Amino acid sequence: MNTRLPLLAAACALALAACGNDTAPADTATPAGTPADTTPADATAGMPAPDPATTPTPSDSDTNVPGTPAATPAGDGKPAATVTDCSTEIEGNDALQYNVGSIAVPSSCSEFTITLKHVGQMPIAAMGHNVVISKATDRAAVAAAGASAGVEGDYVPDGDARVIAHSELIGGGETTSVTFPVSAIQGDGPYEFFCSFPGHWAVMRGSIAVE
Ligand code: CO
Repeated sequence: MNTRLPLLAAACALALAACGNDTAPADTATPAGTPADTTPADATAGMPAPDPATTPTPSDSDTNVPGTPAATPAGDGKPAATVTDCSTEIEGNDALQYNVGSIAVPSSCSEFTITLKHVGQMPIAAMGHNVVISKATDRAAVAAAGASAGVEGDYVPDGDARVIAHSELIGGGETTSVTFPVSAIQGDGPYEFFCSFPGHWAVMRGSIAVE
């Protein structure tokens, strides 16, 4: 026995060496049957766990931007606009974002002005921004109705009573503003400001309220 085992081992070694090319595929096939089944399962079970934890959170703010309308809350954690003398200046950029998430309009103001500065560089047809104010519940419908107005129509439906106020649509480097009576947003809210450019309204939005 003691002498046979080494011999067998040697024979096996030779056989393995001889069929080196066959051994490699055979090795892969064998683990796939039994051990491999367990490994992929574990790997699969392991991967999704860290993935959702890490990826969805950061990608929520970035990826959901163009895609998911309802998922993003108004404002999305952005700071409140700085209000001075019944007016404020907000920014829109090339990354589909306003720089603020809410606007508090002082109740002492009779009129309020929002100035929008497009701090990006992209042209109006690709990354146009405006500021439209409507009831939060009208936002999606107003944007949908405005889509056919096109760039020339500021992506705002003409003569739509749901549109409380709106600026013109601007491209990178441009500035515009809109002034409206504060009483217009003192009814049944909540109200929102948003960009009505197709797709932008889903994420470029924030709350506006008289306080
Ligand atoms: Co826009």
